[in-house]
Amino acid sequence: MIGLEDIKKNIELPENIKSSAVKFSEGEYIHHLIKKNKFKKTLETGFGLGLSAACIMTASESKHVGIDPFQTNYDNTGLKNIEKLGLKNNLEFYADYSHNVLPKLLNEKRTFDFIFIDGDHKFDGQFVDFYYASLMVEKNGFIVLHDTWMRSTTYLLNYAKKNRKDFEYIPQELRNIAVFKKIGADERDWVHFEGFGGSSKSYVTHKVIQKIHEDEDSMMKKAAIKVKNILK
Ligand SMILES: C[S@@+](CC[C@H](N)C(=O)[O-])C[C@H]1O[C@@H](n2cnc3c(N)ncnc32)[C@H](O)[C@@H]1O
Repeated sequence: MIGLEDIKKNIELPENIKSSAVKFSEGEYIHHLIKKNKFKKTLETGFGLGLSAACIMTASESKHVGIDPFQTNYDNTGLKNIEKLGLKNNLEFYADYSHNVLPKLLNEKRTFDFIFIDGDHKFDGQFVDFYYASLMVEKNGFIVLHDTWMRSTTYLLNYAKKNRKDFEYIPQELRNIAVFKKIGADERDWVHFEGFGGSSKSYVTHKVIQKIHEDEDSMMKKAAIKVKNILK
């Protein structure tokens, strides 16, 4: 079975889309998390360039579900990477939106012990992913959020911390990921609701992202990209 060094050596991350993948250090961290907990049934929304998938699959040495509707936009780079690494036989890939695939898997009574959320990063997209993940993750299994530097993810993080007592939030050494462990049943009654606001740091990061997207190539945009990389 191949390992992290093989991934590092052989994975192809085209320069123009490279930053959409998880950082190698993050992939490595997730790899060890899976190994340590002996997770076998894994799923991710946002398969992208296949880096997180490769790190997950080499740790579990088992089947992995990957979901991404836009693989063809990236010339199937993620799928090609998984094939090149010899992991293709363990990949169950859906070229569709997670909001279509997750209910289907739930309906089939599928369960998972590790679910990585890295697809649509808008609040509602991530919330839907978390919701379905919470219905399919097994007791003692993990739901892991990526890109906690983003305001939308911070809100989801706060929602889960305040409202989902069926999950334990486990702080990590690594920035930019959040780990929730399923510890029991969801026993909230129908009137339950705890408000969840974002932090002032998340407000700043959101403004920076907006600046990057709104501006033409300018000094302000370049400065915003630098700030983004520091915050990440
Ligand atoms: C940050 S990238 C994921 C990177 C990937 N984890 C890796 O390490 O290569 C986000 C991915 O989510 C995908 N995506 C966007 N909306 C989605 C959705 N609704 N369902 C599933 N994937 C989605 C995008 O096509 C993109 O490839």
